[in-house]
Amino acid sequence: MHSIRIHEFGGPDVLKLEEQPVPEPKADEVLIRVHAASVNPVDYKMRNGGYVPPDQLPLTLGRDISGVVEGVGSNVREFQASDAVYAMLPRDRGGYAEFVAVGVAGCAAKPRQLDHVHAAAVPLAAITAWQGIFDHGGLVDGQSILIHGAAGGVGHFAVQLAKAHGATVYATCSNDDIDFVRGLGADEAIDYKNQRFEEIANDIDIVFDLIAGETQDRSWSVLRDGGIIVSTLKEPSKEKAARHNARGVHYMAEPNSDQLAEIGRLIDAGRVRVEVGSVFPLADAAAAERMLENEHVRGKIVLDVAA
Ligand SMILES: NC(=O)c1ccc[n+]([C@@H]2O[C@H](COP(=O)([O-])OP(=O)(O)OC[C@H]3O[C@@H](n4cnc5c(N)ncnc54)[C@H](OP(=O)(O)O)[C@@H]3O)[C@@H](O)[C@H]2O)c1
Repeated sequence: MHSIRIHEFGGPDVLKLEEQPVPEPKADEVLIRVHAASVNPVDYKMRNGGYVPPDQLPLTLGRDISGVVEGVGSNVREFQASDAVYAMLPRDRGGYAEFVAVGVAGCAAKPRQLDHVHAAAVPLAAITAWQGIFDHGGLVDGQSILIHGAAGGVGHFAVQLAKAHGATVYATCSNDDIDFVRGLGADEAIDYKNQRFEEIANDIDIVFDLIAGETQDRSWSVLRDGGIIVSTLKEPSKEKAARHNARGVHYMAEPNSDQLAEIGRLIDAGRVRVEVGSVFPLADAAAAERMLENEHVRGKIVLDVAA
């Protein structure tokens, strides 16, 4: 099978298209023929040398896929050959490949309304949004949330999931994305380059921070007493949290098949849509990562592996 691997850390040129044996699924795993894989910031961060010790090279990148079950391990009852599935992969598996073997804990039935390219765009980004908003933020109906980075992969799901659960949503994005983010359901779309979100949002229950840096620092002032900053990137300062009578948490998203199945139901019910900004063939993974790392992207970038 073809896969895209790295043998060293560095820029997009270290991504190499290679021939690899098709993996054998273990007893608790399914073997998936990958139709599409999405590109996430964690991919270029791993490629640049973050997160992964050098002794784990070579490595296939890619943390989420959509495809068709080719075979199952002896203990697997949840899926069978020819099922269409989508999955978030653990860090020791790579989605930039024609096949991947993965435990059932990260897999769910592919949403029927989506083709594989759109389905592959969902797992990591939408699960990150789900876990940030609900598991860590504790969002309930009627609360308010400020989402930083609302037009990106995670953010565009976060806006829709928060709206679907009855929240009032404030969302920061570039000027070009204001209409897009409003179209996702945001009550207030804030141009982060030309407006100060602190002057628009206040008494907020949850800040969902996909940006960190000074954006996170400036966010304490918009929270209500007892509010929370949930960050995918940086542990919020305990000292600043105490000073503002608020809380802060940083987390890493984990594969979760129940959440993925629930997200799929929301998609099939028409309550969450998937924005794919660009599609590349597997062999052009370097161009896809270069675009995500350096350019303005709306929604997700996907590799069409079956193309
Ligand atoms: N901890 C975890 O488990 C986890 C999981 C997923 C993602 N993450 C991290 O979370 C971050 C977001 O991921 P993603 O997949 O959504 O990234 P993405 O698709 O690259 O989206 C980032 C978005 O942020 C916008 N942006 C940049 N600077 C901004 C600012 N100051 N204010 C508001 N918006 C701004 C960008 O818009 P413009 O291009 O218009 O500037 C873009 O739309 C990444 O750093 C990623 O590594 C962590």
